[in-house]
Amino acid sequence: MKNIVVFASGFGSNFQAIIDSVKHGRLQANIVGLICDNPKAYAIERARINYIPIALFERKNFLIKEEMDEAILNQCRQWQADWLILAGYMRLLSPEVIHAYPHHIVNIHPSLLPKYRGLDAVGQALDKNEKIYGITIHYVDEGMDSGEIICQVPFEPDVLDRDHIERRLHQLEHQTYPAIIQKLLLEERV
Ligand code: GAR
Repeated sequence: MKNIVVFASGFGSNFQAIIDSVKHGRLQANIVGLICDNPKAYAIERARINYIPIALFERKNFLIKEEMDEAILNQCRQWQADWLILAGYMRLLSPEVIHAYPHHIVNIHPSLLPKYRGLDAVGQALDKNEKIYGITIHYVDEGMDSGEIICQVPFEPDVLDRDHIERRLHQLEHQTYPAIIQKLLLEERV
């Protein structure tokens, strides 16, 4: 079975969806650890509850970003990670990390990329009066939400209401992300 490391910075609902999918056998993988950059992230609690090892890397403890990412990379190697799964991790990874795991780092983003990259994708889309929303799962490269797209799921809300849109996008994320990860892991075995 492949080893996956999940990266999260916040609430961790996608992390939870991955944990639940592993528990129910829909995703056949070992979650070998959580990498987190925010000591207040609820994702940490989720890891604790599920006995998943946690590595916290706070930017303020490193002189430069590259140093932090080197420590992250060492941790991933120590955990013998095969795949790095970004689930609401709100930092760009250094080229060193990207090059260490070519085509083995994936991210999920709440927009139909290349539209609305970066923070608050839904807010950006609402500001533009966007009618079609959706999620994207993509390989991670050195840019922000810019790697090769693996899967997109669009959705057209009845009303342009932020809560409604975010709730639906989260549902789509939770259904889609674990299934796509499983597909990527299976394809690799062939
Ligand atoms: C998710 O909606 C994810 O798509 C987004 O952060 C949220 C994290 O929620 N990621 C990005 O915006 C990446 N640029 P969660 O912590 O509940 O999983």
